[in-house]
Amino acid sequence: MSFTFQDFPAARDDLRADVLAGLAAHPKAIPPKYFYDEAGCRLFDAICAQPEYALCRTEQTLMATHLPDIAATLGEVDCIVEPGAGDCTKVRLLLDALRPTHLTVIDIAGGPLAAAAQAVSRDYPQLAVAALAMDFLHDLEAADPCLPAGRRLVYYPGSSIGNFPPDAATALLARFRRLAGAAGHLLIGFDLKKDPQRLHAAYNDDAGVTAAFNLNLLARLNRELGADFDPAQFRHYAFYNPVAGRIEMHLVSLAEQDVHVAGERFHFALGETLHTEHSYKFRCDEFSALARTAGWQLAGEWEHNGFAVQLFR
Ligand code: AVJ
Repeated sequence: MSFTFQDFPAARDDLRADVLAGLAAHPKAIPPKYFYDEAGCRLFDAICAQPEYALCRTEQTLMATHLPDIAATLGEVDCIVEPGAGDCTKVRLLLDALRPTHLTVIDIAGGPLAAAAQAVSRDYPQLAVAALAMDFLHDLEAADPCLPAGRRLVYYPGSSIGNFPPDAATALLARFRRLAGAAGHLLIGFDLKKDPQRLHAAYNDDAGVTAAFNLNLLARLNRELGADFDPAQFRHYAFYNPVAGRIEMHLVSLAEQDVHVAGERFHFALGETLHTEHSYKFRCDEFSALARTAGWQLAGEWEHNGFAVQLFR
């Protein structure tokens, strides 16, 4: 059994700079990657258990159903790389089906990642597991020397790609392509365009878990940046924009107020928004065209209940 952990601290400490820049921008905005502190991860898991939010369950079912076919289409894989691997549950399913010799998992949250990757390493004694603590949006290229030669598969499940506007998504997919190498593949999951009422409900669950997830960002900024947001003075507001093909998530100010963050003051007008997330939805042909722009060629496609997984080479 082999397990290695590498920390890339220079590529992790952006919260303060990103938040200050985001609050100075028009409209105010904070990147969605900052949702996922400990409470945020727990709230996201709770979102996935809401009846209105089928995305995670649907992807699980799709993968369980079609994995033999996906594996057959893929052929041999030596190394699986998962950016944003979190607790490593999703990749376990692939390990059983593809039997690679190497697994490299990357996540901005180094502590939980290391624990999860070590557990994988215990359960798969033949597998060489490497955990890299970094913000892969910042420094993905630093992962390259940590990868073995051979056939690589980049795995990016969960419609995480939906968080990026088309230009940024294309740029990220192009970086994945360089990471995968000439013989590499990309297996990626994304949410499909569907009845807007269904999409709206998924981000406005009755139990208010998505609202709590969105507002938790303010609690994080209060704790980690010494900010003084009053979460009661902001409203979770999420809607589907069919022109842009995305869910937009906002925190709308319920009052005219000043907020202090890391020693700086920011003014919110009544009704002013702090934009927190885009969640793009695609058609299959749209997504494969986007990936083609990044140099990927479609090799397979699987769909289930409004969710899709595509394989590229
Ligand atoms: C993890 C980015 C796929 O966009 O649906 C869930 C995050 N935000 N509810 C998504 C999220 C609000 C989720 N992704």
